[in-house]
Amino acid sequence: MALLQRLPRFRRKPLLTGLDIGSHSIKLVRLKTRQGSYQLVNFGVMPLPPRAIVDHTIMDEGSVVTAIRNLIRMEKISARDTAVALSGQAVLTKTIRLPRMSDRELAEAMQWEAEQHIPFDMADINLDFRILASGNAAGGQMDVLLVAARKARVAERASLLTAAGLRPAVVDIDGLALANAFEAGHGLADTPIALVDIGASTMNVNIVSDGATAFQRAVAIGGDRYTSAVQSALGIDHDQAEALKMGHGHIDAARQEALLDVMATVSTEIGGELQRSFDLFRTTTNRGVDRVVISGGCGCIRGLDRFLGAHLGLPVSVANPFDRVYCDDSQFDAAYLQDMAPLAAVGVGLALRRRGDR
Ligand SMILES: Nc1ncnc2c1ncn2[C@@H]1O[C@H](COP(=O)(O)OP(=O)(O)OP(=O)(O)O)[C@@H](O)[C@H]1O
Ligand SMILES: [Mg+2]
Repeated sequence: MALLQRLPRFRRKPLLTGLDIGSHSIKLVRLKTRQGSYQLVNFGVMPLPPRAIVDHTIMDEGSVVTAIRNLIRMEKISARDTAVALSGQAVLTKTIRLPRMSDRELAEAMQWEAEQHIPFDMADINLDFRILASGNAAGGQMDVLLVAARKARVAERASLLTAAGLRPAVVDIDGLALANAFEAGHGLADTPIALVDIGASTMNVNIVSDGATAFQRAVAIGGDRYTSAVQSALGIDHDQAEALKMGHGHIDAARQEALLDVMATVSTEIGGELQRSFDLFRTTTNRGVDRVVISGGCGCIRGLDRFLGAHLGLPVSVANPFDRVYCDDSQFDAAYLQDMAPLAAVGVGLALRRRGDR
């Protein structure tokens, strides 16, 4: 199993089913190539019971396996080869600059480099690497992204898929999947762009530039925080709070004001964490972020892009990973896809992966 794959090498191998296993829901995306671009074949979302996955750890494997099985039945998926992601927190990444060398030499060099850079026992980790596009820069040199994941975490994801009747073909990293989805739609970013996935429990901040991830940080904040804040501010139950957060349900004017206030409080917290991330990025690289693209379920919160834009003083937009993907109107409801697009970003990045071990 490849932990990572270099995209260009396996152009002709079949595209994998992308399965983004989040704490709130599982997203399945399947693409096919179409006239040098991509066409959407499947997109399905299956909610998970609360606390089935906590802090990226699978607490209730049975529920997760059942949800995956239901999703593949619902989407009538027969191809078993699947790409999943580990969270950025579960892996160690390091960019290393090396002289240009052959693939074989590089594979040997990386083993040695890993021993220098990775503070884990080599026997406990899966190691992978990828030559970054930015490596073309300095004469005769290349930048290589070294990735180390604990074997136990990779095995956990693999056994989940196997239990659901799927074949684990690629274990990716969520932040890299996000960057791949963005690059497939918009090309390589030459100025730093923050790709920010705000899910239910985690906000994943990835700053990409020149085809490489230059900065990555995960913060424990997301949709769950909005829901619990609304719940306690308005004295209502979880499901009512969840509905109000999504703009459903009716409340009187006074409560509407309280709702907006509490939503803004959490959005301000998110803005603060983003600012902190961008400050850290500036300290380490001396560069500023040019613009921000938000994805994940919180990307669906009305006006969050404008709110964060004002807070950060930067252009903020909502990701649409289906932007450059052909979606057949007779198969997909265009309005539904538009609404759900932010949730699909990591899944689309995974569905761009192809079979082929390295
Ligand atoms: N239309 C909407 N408006 C507001 N919030 C929404 C909307 N749709 C989904 N959400 C919220 O987004 C969150 C789910 O997002 P997402 O599917 O990206 O999370 P996840 O991938 O399951 O979780 P994580 O990545 O944090 O483990 C939930 O908190 C949900 O309430
Ligand atoms: Mg997620």
